[in-house]
Amino acid sequence: MSALRTLAILALIGVCSCQTSDCSYLGVLTHLNLTTTNNVLSIMRPVKNWTTATLVQMDMLLYGILQVDEKFQTITSHIWIQMRWTNEFLTWNPSAFCGINSMTIPRSRLWIPDVNIHEDASDTGTIQNSPVVTLSFKGVVLVNTRQRLTSTCLLNLILFPFDTQLCNFTFTSMNSGADTIKLGTVYNDTQLTEVSEQIMVTRGEWQLVSLEILEYSVARESGSRSKLVYTVKIARKPMLYVIIFIVPLFYFLLLDLASFFINEARGEKLSFKVTILLSISVLLLILKDMLPSTEDSLPMIAMYCIGIFALVGLSVLEAMLVGFLFDLDGCSCKNGQTADDAQVDIQLEVNYHKGTDGAEETPEKSSLPPYRPDDCDLLELILKEVKTARQEVGAPRDKDQGRPGRYRRLAEIIDSVFFVLYFLTVLFFMTYMNVKWIVQIC
Ligand SMILES: *[C@@H]1O[C@H](CO)[C@@H](O)[C@H](O)[C@H]1NC(C)=O
Ligand SMILES: *[C@@H]1O[C@H](CO)[C@@H](O)[C@H](O)[C@H]1NC(C)=O
Repeated sequence: MSALRTLAILALIGVCSCQTSDCSYLGVLTHLNLTTTNNVLSIMRPVKNWTTATLVQMDMLLYGILQVDEKFQTITSHIWIQMRWTNEFLTWNPSAFCGINSMTIPRSRLWIPDVNIHEDASDTGTIQNSPVVTLSFKGVVLVNTRQRLTSTCLLNLILFPFDTQLCNFTFTSMNSGADTIKLGTVYNDTQLTEVSEQIMVTRGEWQLVSLEILEYSVARESGSRSKLVYTVKIARKPMLYVIIFIVPLFYFLLLDLASFFINEARGEKLSFKVTILLSISVLLLILKDMLPSTEDSLPMIAMYCIGIFALVGLSVLEAMLVGFLFDLDGCSCKNGQTADDAQVDIQLEVNYHKGTDGAEETPEKSSLPPYRPDDCDLLELILKEVKTARQEVGAPRDKDQGRPGRYRRLAEIIDSVFFVLYFLTVLFFMTYMNVKWIVQIC
């Protein structure tokens, strides 16, 4: 209550003093000599002694991370920059002007420092300057700029999608050296980070880790330059990539391992493995769209993908080999079998014909139409011919065949050995990836 009362009294005093002095902005403008077309203030750096450097304070807030383009290595953000400096000519005493301690004037009437961002690769028209600037009675000029900034940033994608990116926004004056324009900030890193975290609306798949500020000046042959570097540290939220990429790939590898237990004979194993291979290549296609082709350093996720692709590819080849061996075995085995069967059949048939040739007729057989003897002889002759022909054709194959299950046994051995080796390779590969990937993240 007492504070309120004091405020009321102060306000009353203010009102009283107003009545005695000029309360209009016009008064201040006249005092500052801004009513006439006075161009002097817009063309020269506003210092009384030229050796005084102007300190330009730039505070940048991050309003949003709109897009990070891995292919073009750019980051698009929405930033708000507040720039302030002191104009030594524009000061007044608020008590002489009814307590006016700040006012806005058109931007074009004043000198504005030519500070820009080095990494800026935006199109024109993405900067929105405020048409007016705020002037305080101490001569501090405040300019606000809102910008959709597309800046180049060297993205390091080795650890994708568990990556953290550092992007620099380097502020520097285009024409003035460090002796005339010095760059600095009003707030420190932690304050700016905190405020940015609070006001940030869109961040996409990114999370702001920190904003770091570094001020320094670099020496050039034309004099030293003052630089102000904002390092934006952002971390990717990897959940989506884990779900659509890493887990499915791992699952495919498990399926491929499990497919060794599918029965060989039916030929389903091979088609199953080829399907897995195709699914992995679809994921590879998606990956191609996401990552740039930086040959010098292959991202871990690409290695992971290629590794799994190669492993499954190998196992497909092995399945083909085993399938081939099985086929070889089954083929030769079947041929031998049919030749024997045929012999037996023919033998039986000959016997049967001989039987029918004889007088004794069983009741069932009597229903058959009777053969004439010359027909029977002819048939017997043909049968004999066919028998000898068959034996001639079958003989070399029989010799060649040796033991019937040889290839099958070989295939089984190859399959078992390959499975053990494959399992060990997969184990080694997964461990290696874990060590390389997860350890690097931490
Ligand atoms: C205002 O500007 C005019 C011309 O530009 C100049 O003659 C005059 O001295 C200035 N007055 C002040 C108070 O600076
Ligand atoms: C950012 O700027 C700092 C200071 O100049 C420098 O050390 C660092 O390498 C820069 N980082 C990138 C990614 O350019």
